[in-house]
Amino acid sequence: MKITNICCIGAGYVGGPTMAIIAQKCPHIKVTVVDLNEDRIARWNDTNLDNIPVYEPGLGTIVGESRGKNLFFSTQVDKAIDEAQIIFISVNTPTKTYGSGKGMAADLKYIELCARQIARVSKDDKIVVEKSTLPVRTAEAIKNILDNTGNGVQFQILSNPEFLAEGTAVEDLLKPDRVLIGGDTTPEGQKAIKALVDIYANWVPNDKILTTNVWSSELSKLTANAFLAQRVSSINAMSELCEKTGADVNEVARAIGMDSRIGSKFLKASVGFGGSCFQKDILNLVYISKSFGLHQVADYWEQVIIMNDHQKRRFSKNIVSTLYNTIADKKIAFLGWAFKKDTNDTRESAAIYVADDLINEQANIAVYDPKVTHTQILSDLDYLETRTTDQNKKFITSFNDPYEACKNAHAIAILTEWDEFKEYDWQKIYDSMLKPAFVFDGRNLLDGAKLKAIGFQYQEIGS
Ligand code: UDX
Ligand code: UDX
Repeated sequence: MKITNICCIGAGYVGGPTMAIIAQKCPHIKVTVVDLNEDRIARWNDTNLDNIPVYEPGLGTIVGESRGKNLFFSTQVDKAIDEAQIIFISVNTPTKTYGSGKGMAADLKYIELCARQIARVSKDDKIVVEKSTLPVRTAEAIKNILDNTGNGVQFQILSNPEFLAEGTAVEDLLKPDRVLIGGDTTPEGQKAIKALVDIYANWVPNDKILTTNVWSSELSKLTANAFLAQRVSSINAMSELCEKTGADVNEVARAIGMDSRIGSKFLKASVGFGGSCFQKDILNLVYISKSFGLHQVADYWEQVIIMNDHQKRRFSKNIVSTLYNTIADKKIAFLGWAFKKDTNDTRESAAIYVADDLINEQANIAVYDPKVTHTQILSDLDYLETRTTDQNKKFITSFNDPYEACKNAHAIAILTEWDEFKEYDWQKIYDSMLKPAFVFDGRNLLDGAKLKAIGFQYQEIGS
């Protein structure tokens, strides 16, 4: 089958960048990205490419090259489904906040709605691709809905999990370590797999395109994220031990990372991992394991989350105890709010939890993040439901200028590893702060020796 028209439901952090790259690399394919959120689509269509809703280095330029030629952003979901031969589902799958599996299972209501909409609209055979990270065997549920509510047309379901990391999405999409495609072993399934392989083959070498059965593909995504998160929790566990013993976690990470069996990536101690995937996917794994009665497996993976929660709490407790056990009315500057650098995404960012703890102690938090708005910061705190919006507003302010955020502060907490923080005039910041002036470096980002020479009381994780 020659593919000339595809669509993607969900214009978020995954759907937007992924489709922009497909459009760039496949000028012969019309790519339409649809979303229910009108404001989001309007921003994807903004003539000023700085205003697109997802901040990723290099993405604006790529969108600009293809938009209006073979890349379209629209709210006309039915039309896009009807015209497409392949439909990617890239809607969000948050952790359930209600009912059975609350706090653990993935909420599949958006996925199911998409499946029902595809079934209702489709008048010819379609390939449906799961791009969202889903619990194992979701494809089966989607197939069931499609086959039983559709207009008698044939659907093939593929699993094609996205491995891009935010902040490096463009690079990851252009040069993926691998592309994984899971499908049925039937001849029709294999034909569908081939159609999707052919799209990626426009820029990804063949030996990096891996095909498996659907369930292996679904489970591989959860496994990859669980392994990555586990490395962060492992090094963070060691960071606490380092602080007690006089070892330095950066030195330990370097020493173990040079063992080629271990490798050097994902060994950076931090205030804790965030992002929309790690916690959600592990909770999902825990839930699935429990539902099969595999309690040891579930407990094993749950520890990765428990360690991460502990690390965030430990960081805020340390701030309180270092500032003489009283931070009420003290100004504490946060440099960074995003869950990592080079993204405007704040989902599950450690900053939210640290701020929540410090606000419980009635501190005044002054945030500077180069890409995150005050509205977003407030809505992140509101989501925790610890306080009312009005109460949060009393304790949290945002600044467009980092020097203003730090002025008259008792302490600075580094929550995101934005490169620009390293370039600041730290002497100027020191001079504007109350003394003693503290820096709690939750990302081990800054040059501690330099800051100490200026006069800062500097603390990093794990040393
Ligand atoms: C993605 C994946 O889909 C998720 O499974 C993975 O774990 C994280 O990355 P992401 O792109 O980050 O999600 O989500 P988000 O930025 O929230 O985008 C999802 C979009 O889908 C939103 O713009 C939302 O408006 C849209 N949506 C949601 C629909 O268009 N229809 C729906 O029914 C539900
Ligand atoms: C992750 C996976 O890497 C990606 O393959 C998957 O598709 C989605 O989930 P993402 O969440 O975007 O990507 O970012 P990632 O770079 O994995 O970072 C996750 C969190 O771990 C961030 O908060 C980051 O700061 C933290 N982290 C990462 C550390 O604290 N230390 C490290 O050494 C690495």
